[in-house]
Amino acid sequence: MEDAGHFPVLLEEVLELLAPALRRTVVDCTVGLGGHAAALLEATGEGTMLVGIDLDESNLLKTRRRLARFGARVRLFEANFADLEAVLAEVGVASADAVLADLGVASSQLEDPSRGFSFQVSGPLDMRMRRQGPTAGDLVNTLGEAELVELIWRSGQDRYSRRIARAIVRARGRGGIERTDQLARIVAGAYPPARGGRRRIHPATRTFQALRIAVNRELENLQGLLEKLPGLLSPGGRAAVISFHSLEDRLVKRAFQAAARCGTHRNLTPKPRTPSSEEIARNPRSRSAKLRAMERIS
Ligand SMILES: C[S@@+](CC[C@H](N)C(=O)[O-])C[C@H]1O[C@@H](n2cnc3c(N)ncnc32)[C@H](O)[C@@H]1O
Repeated sequence: MEDAGHFPVLLEEVLELLAPALRRTVVDCTVGLGGHAAALLEATGEGTMLVGIDLDESNLLKTRRRLARFGARVRLFEANFADLEAVLAEVGVASADAVLADLGVASSQLEDPSRGFSFQVSGPLDMRMRRQGPTAGDLVNTLGEAELVELIWRSGQDRYSRRIARAIVRARGRGGIERTDQLARIVAGAYPPARGGRRRIHPATRTFQALRIAVNRELENLQGLLEKLPGLLSPGGRAAVISFHSLEDRLVKRAFQAAARCGTHRNLTPKPRTPSSEEIARNPRSRSAKLRAMERIS
């Protein structure tokens, strides 16, 4: 059963790649709304425990209800997946048989204007998955121009990062930048006119991505997970990671290749798995997804 508007990305591929490892301890590092988790629980029996982790307490609240029918087979933790080792220790195991991470934002987060993730609706510039630390608004209103250029270039890969940073600094000089639609207009205004008609993506897409990545320390957290992941798999255990942009995918690819070079792990996806055209038509948000998997062999 799907929640309206929510489809777990690359679900069949995840189940197929993790199937041989679906034994006792299965971890969903980004349990979100529980779509993948419910399918993993359905694919396994009473002897399998699913450990679900998420930074977002409101997602966990919904997921607790959604997965209630699986009873004591489910253990949910409000935690950072970079702390996977500590979460496993809390459930009394040293390693996991199957681990999934489906990176990025959940539809519940994108669709709630009060969370500030979307430039399509007006909301406060928040973007925090866990309500702690600086918001996107704090970054936009306090970083120096050079720091903004660096952030928008490095984490957003926007070739107009200089123009955008200049426009942000100029606009905030006239009063703070507080709302998502306000920032989206400032960024769009910094772009040169589109050549030959319509743009492929909204000009604010990359700046919003950069801010979200910075606010939630997404690349640092992913790196933290990837460093520990090979050692936290049981022999024969498998890990699958779904990423949504090249910055993440590069980290996953390198980590899995490095583990394979050590001879302790096998890379199960020399080429990443990507969604079919049917899946993209059903769920346009899946279009940039890449799935990579590895197995511990010794
Ligand atoms: C794309 S959604 C996952 C959707 C989920 N697979 C499903 O089927 O409902 C990503 C989730 O990961 C969570 N998240 C992002 N970074 C995290 C981190 N470092 N640790 C734990 N959860 C994280 C987000 O809060 C969000 O709920």
